[in-house]
Amino acid sequence: MSHADDHEGTRRDFLYYATAGAGVVATGAAVWPLVNQMNPSADVQALSSIRVDVGGISEGTQLTVKWLGKPVFIRRRTQAEIEEAMSVDVSSLPDPEARNENISAGAPATDANRSLLPPETEGATSEWLVMMGVCTHLGCVPLGDAGDFGGWFCPCHGSHYDTAGRIRKGPAPTNLPVPVAEFVDATTIKLG
Ligand code: FES
Repeated sequence: MSHADDHEGTRRDFLYYATAGAGVVATGAAVWPLVNQMNPSADVQALSSIRVDVGGISEGTQLTVKWLGKPVFIRRRTQAEIEEAMSVDVSSLPDPEARNENISAGAPATDANRSLLPPETEGATSEWLVMMGVCTHLGCVPLGDAGDFGGWFCPCHGSHYDTAGRIRKGPAPTNLPVPVAEFVDATTIKLG
């Protein structure tokens, strides 16, 4: 190998490594905001439990609150939304599990197992739905009153959730998770 070839080879290697290096930096920059978003700062973490006044939420509307650095959807559903959710055969769902931290793991994704009952309420299911507002695909915030199933739609890659927050179509693998939550009185929900 001549001296010139040697030089040429070194230069090619240098260019190759420089390009590969730039690629790594770009990937790191793209991923970092998401990772950072997943790690709430210390002051946010201190508020591990919050109370939300839901007295002003009328039927068919929802409130989005920020909790632990993430959005939480609190929706007061219409009767039609509840009936729609109840009519679905759970075994036909892409994710048949309730994903509700307030009940046992692996419980079926029935409407009753996804909704939150106010105190002293009779009946199996409830108009109240409390869920993390974070798409289970890659973490975007889905839009309410949208999508093919009248629930939520994530525009990032097209995931459709139904009126019980269950994934019905698109790349999201699981239902929107229900966090630890309870009614502490008729109009107050405690998260955490
Ligand atoms: S992040 Fe929602 S569909 Fe990809």
